[in-house]
Amino acid sequence: MQDVLLDVQDLVVHFRVYGGYLKVLDGVTLQVRSQERVGLVGETGCGKTTTMKTIMGILPQPPGVIRGGRIFFRGQNVLAMRPQELERLRRSGISMIFQDPTAALNPVFTIGEQLEDAIRYALGRTDHASIRERAIETLRSVALPDPLRILESYPVQLSGGMRQRVCIALALASPKELLIADEPGTSLDVTIQDQILRLIHRLAEDRKMAVILISHSLGVIREWTERVYVMYAGTIVEEAVTQELFAQPLHPYTKALIACVPKLTGEGIAEGIPGRIPDYFEPPSGCRFHPRCPYALDICRKEKPKLFAVCENHRVACFLFGEENR
Ligand SMILES: Nc1ncnc2c1ncn2[C@@H]1O[C@H](COP(=O)(O)OP(=O)(O)OP(=O)(O)O)[C@@H](O)[C@H]1O
Ligand SMILES: [Mg+2]
Repeated sequence: MQDVLLDVQDLVVHFRVYGGYLKVLDGVTLQVRSQERVGLVGETGCGKTTTMKTIMGILPQPPGVIRGGRIFFRGQNVLAMRPQELERLRRSGISMIFQDPTAALNPVFTIGEQLEDAIRYALGRTDHASIRERAIETLRSVALPDPLRILESYPVQLSGGMRQRVCIALALASPKELLIADEPGTSLDVTIQDQILRLIHRLAEDRKMAVILISHSLGVIREWTERVYVMYAGTIVEEAVTQELFAQPLHPYTKALIACVPKLTGEGIAEGIPGRIPDYFEPPSGCRFHPRCPYALDICRKEKPKLFAVCENHRVACFLFGEENR
């Protein structure tokens, strides 16, 4: 893949909990090119946030344990970085907008205090007036009206949509090459969510940033990304150019996921996928999806399928495809 910005190979992450380990990530592999918009989709609990926290170097350890894999950002090995290098990575390389904007903001400080802190952290020592100016400019860039009033406000005084915009402003206080947007605006109504996604899209284009957009909404992924990874229980089961994935989903899980989306064509609401994400204490052997898969073969219970390239733009980890996997 040309011009790879982020390269994650076979990432294995467990969580130590009472009575043992939750074997959550089971070999996650994904790449992001410069300025590319990549989607990551999968049911709740499949490990999307865990993957991103590990990439950012903010996985809490313990309880998290990185058992294996490699993460390269601009060719540099993230897992081998010292705390100072990780700090530099977060200052000028990767930023993340977290799932819950309320939890990401500190309720006892004004927006101004938090944003100015982020700018000072990103730019180093600068005089107060220019930090203030930069804070106002940043709030304008996320289309927040009346920035002076917002700087004086506490998070609780803002609406959910405004808080989410403040989080984007915080994440983009300094230039970044990759923005990770973890379910941006999911807790807000669809109109506001759409505005937030538009804003992210515009900022990414203006600043020439790559974006990883996480969502369990296939509609959102379809509209806003160029390439998609489908995740199931800590593994990537399918990867394709967005249009191709929706036109021709291959993995039984992706097919079921797409079939779950309510259709406006009068066919009604499709059934959900029977079963649920497996227990991470003792995940299923072989392919983690096999207990829910209507097409499971004998081999699916025994071996884990590798990602197999069906064509240049489409890879799937399923024994139903590719001789190599048999
Ligand atoms: N600190 C932790 N300690 C123990 N288990 C954890 C911890 N963080 C995450 N997990 C577990 O890891 C699994 C994956 O969680 P994660 O938050 O990555 O999922 P997700 O795909 O982001 O889900 P959602 O769509 O709900 O945000 C879950 O089963 C979760 O309970
Ligand atoms: Mg999450």
